[in-house]
Amino acid sequence: MAAGLGLEVVGIVNKLQDVFSAVGSSASTIDLPQICVLGSQSSGKSSVLENLVGRDFLPRGTGIVTRRPLVLQLIHRPITAAKGAGAPAQTKAGDSQTNDTEWGEFLHLPGEKFYDFSKIRSEIIRDTEAKTGRNAGISPVPINLRIFSPNVLTLTLVDLPGLTKVPVGDQPRDIERQIRDMLMKYISRPNAVILAVTAANTDLANSDGLKMAREVDPEGTRTIGVLTKVDLMDQGTDVIEILAGRVIPLRLGYVPVVNRGQRDIDSSKTITSALEHERAFFENHPSYNSKAQYCGTPYLARRLNLILMHHIRTTLPDIKVRISEQQKKYAAELQSLGGLVADNSGSVVLAAITEFAAEFRGAIDGNREDLAQNEL
Ligand code: GDP
Ligand code: NA
Ligand code: MG
Repeated sequence: MAAGLGLEVVGIVNKLQDVFSAVGSSASTIDLPQICVLGSQSSGKSSVLENLVGRDFLPRGTGIVTRRPLVLQLIHRPITAAKGAGAPAQTKAGDSQTNDTEWGEFLHLPGEKFYDFSKIRSEIIRDTEAKTGRNAGISPVPINLRIFSPNVLTLTLVDLPGLTKVPVGDQPRDIERQIRDMLMKYISRPNAVILAVTAANTDLANSDGLKMAREVDPEGTRTIGVLTKVDLMDQGTDVIEILAGRVIPLRLGYVPVVNRGQRDIDSSKTITSALEHERAFFENHPSYNSKAQYCGTPYLARRLNLILMHHIRTTLPDIKVRISEQQKKYAAELQSLGGLVADNSGSVVLAAITEFAAEFRGAIDGNREDLAQNEL
């Protein structure tokens, strides 16, 4: 996966997770936050998630396209382990170099591996229709998709239906409340990071996503504002006032992005050229060129990385405690069995955590300096 969350934190966390799994320590996984998108229908939520992951696989478009929650688990799988896993020959899918080290699996289709990401999209559409019909129905029953790759952080992202007000097609009369309840379930979890998505060509004061995010996260400690469709704003207008926090201030701020438009989707514009277009847009725009490094999908990914690193750092002491406890428990059990084998896996993990904690500090401090310059 090309873009997005494949940053420094990936290497650090994955090494740590690898040590955990190598010693079979179940008490010691890092429980990373779930990243959820929240916003009005067609504000660009699925597009933002897809750009972050860096692969084309989510259904997107005008109208209600995302009709069930999609719980997307990215699972890091080292390249050596993935090799020779019985993968089929290479297939070409849309944008991307399909290869045998990255694939998807659905919970409802156990054992079936999808190496072609365009087939993942077809399956999401097929199963959505199977459970909700074809006429705009919705369902709170999530689709569970796992993507295995050497290039991702083991992390969960949730794509959600958008907030709407007026029922269409087969939708129930209380569609607004039903979708609200569905979203509430995900965003009210304390470890949810909320990407509150608002289209820049609509009025921020009308943003349903921001309003709802504030209900569950009044302090704004886990809400990032994402402004989509910056390319569709009227000539002579921009989001500078919003970024400066002078419209609706958000503690973690806003990131403006440019996703693929409907015409790009229809012409199967690749994710790589979409990200290139986004970069060029901000660099060449008179309002943004001086702060282009704080705009776009790559910057959003860096902000998310920073949040994840903070989370991990605050979680590490607790993990250490759990591992020591586990180690003591095992030692006692071994003793009662006659103390035949010495198990030192706990100390191996503890040493690894200490080492990585130091590495984190470096990475976090580096990022903080970087982000502190974000004075708009
Ligand atoms: P969702 O309903 O919030 O998940 O939104 P989608 O990601 O499905 O996008 C809805 C529509 O908006 C699609 O036609 C996208 O092509 C379009 N869209 C999303 N983001 C942008 C953007 O930044 N610029 C432009 N021009 N179109 C966008
Ligand atoms: Na849509
Ligand atoms: Mg969507």
